[in-house]
Amino acid sequence: MSNDTLWYKDAVFYQVYVRAFRDSNSDGHGDLRGLTQKLDYIQRLGVDCLWLMPIYPSPLKDDGYDISNFYNIAETFGTVDDFKTLIQDAHRRGIRIIMDLVLNHTSDQHPWFQASRADKNSPYRGYYVWSDTDRKYTDARIIFLDTEPSNWTWDEQAGQFYWHRFYASQPDLNYDNPAVQEEMINVARFWLDLGIDGFRADAVPYLFEREGTNCENLPETHAYLKKLRVFVDANYPGRILLCEANQWPEDVRPYFGDGDEFHMGFHFPIMPRIFMALKKGLADDMVGILNRTPSIPENCQWCIFLRNHDELTLEMVTEEERQWMWGQYAPEPRMKLNLGIRRRLAPLLDNDRRKIELAYSILFTLPGSPIVYYGDEIGMGDNIWLHDRNGVRMPMQWDAGPTSGFSEADLKSWYSPLTNDEVFGPSQVNVESQVNCPESLWHTIRHMIAIRKKYQCFGRGEFEWVDVRTNAIAAYQRKYKNEILLAIHNLGDSPVDVNTEQDAVDILSGEDLPHGTLTLAPLQYRWLLSRSDG
Ligand code: NOJ
Repeated sequence: MSNDTLWYKDAVFYQVYVRAFRDSNSDGHGDLRGLTQKLDYIQRLGVDCLWLMPIYPSPLKDDGYDISNFYNIAETFGTVDDFKTLIQDAHRRGIRIIMDLVLNHTSDQHPWFQASRADKNSPYRGYYVWSDTDRKYTDARIIFLDTEPSNWTWDEQAGQFYWHRFYASQPDLNYDNPAVQEEMINVARFWLDLGIDGFRADAVPYLFEREGTNCENLPETHAYLKKLRVFVDANYPGRILLCEANQWPEDVRPYFGDGDEFHMGFHFPIMPRIFMALKKGLADDMVGILNRTPSIPENCQWCIFLRNHDELTLEMVTEEERQWMWGQYAPEPRMKLNLGIRRRLAPLLDNDRRKIELAYSILFTLPGSPIVYYGDEIGMGDNIWLHDRNGVRMPMQWDAGPTSGFSEADLKSWYSPLTNDEVFGPSQVNVESQVNCPESLWHTIRHMIAIRKKYQCFGRGEFEWVDVRTNAIAAYQRKYKNEILLAIHNLGDSPVDVNTEQDAVDILSGEDLPHGTLTLAPLQYRWLLSRSDG
């Protein structure tokens, strides 16, 4: 593993839903040992860092984002020892691991909340946000719009309302209470001491509430997050904090502080605009949002993604754009969820290999570190008929067999059905056949990752749009030291001639391309490297 404390700037991330990955003990749920068994696969793909979705004990009302004990691992995933083994085995392969740190809320089953609701005089009463009225903080939006009528829920036992930004089963912690602030630093310490490489910090904009505001991105929130960073830097140099703030670029920018808050932050608004660009055949929406993205400190990095375990969120688009995206990408009403779309990458892109590759090429060349969602490297499908976001969290398809190589348990005890789709079922889409076929999507993704890793311009280079006189092309330069990369993507459905000024090599195909006119076929992309030293 590299000793560079800025490792995350060059890294390729891979998001794993542990329950879906590989079941080692035949209980129908993926687990840590199963994931450990699959590290060779992850290494072969070229991944540098895994992000594990929550593995804490949880009643699973929000798939583990409702935590009932911060200091343990849910039995179904294994033990703390299994986790240590996973970390060791991953590190031995040069793979780092970050995990979710859910700061904003707990499960209502958490003993803190149980004590809090049971007794007004309990020291835990002040761990949560209680009120006699539900008319406070009315400017805060509701996030889970399809299910939650309010951010307040009446608690019979407590005789008061409690505050929650997500499901009612996820009461928000009260960060005005110094004890809560300290508790959560202790939680971070516990896992960092086990050797993890950092956290994906969940839902950070919502830590504090203040009347008259929308209760997002408050100065108090930033102050606390800076304390967390001081703690991490002082005790665990080289470990990272990745910020989940689904916000406009100018509102995410403060989460990097002066390089003293988060190391990384997801770039939410670019994501839907990649899909807009692919559908419209025009780069304009991407250009607009990246031009609106402020620069960030040297030691910080964006994290970019195409899909994840949630709905394809349309929070960071205008109302008009949202309607357009729904019209284009959610033709079935059931595909919509909250302010988003519950579909996976391959079905969204019509399972069209050229569009999928084009999307990945954009992902791997834009400024920031890319994150690949498990299963999307082989083009897995979804099931919009499953509850909530479960349809994009289905079992990993390892082979073509009837159990897809996920689990030996009876199918009835699986946490989720497999897809039986004709196009996306395991007989059509699986790791084994793609690994064995050099022309597969998996090999293309692996190749892109391998090439990306050879050049630091991808992770660290300056970014500049290149004008090629047609907005059907997304062309941009990435420059770092003597590496100059021109990434060009033909988003449209007609061939386009592009004039290049420098002799270059297409580092994906190995072709030498003297300067002059280059024709890009519809949906073609190229990564052209020239060197400033010739
Ligand atoms: C964001 C997570 O990505 C999502 O899955 C979860 O439901 C909410 N935060 C609440 O923790």
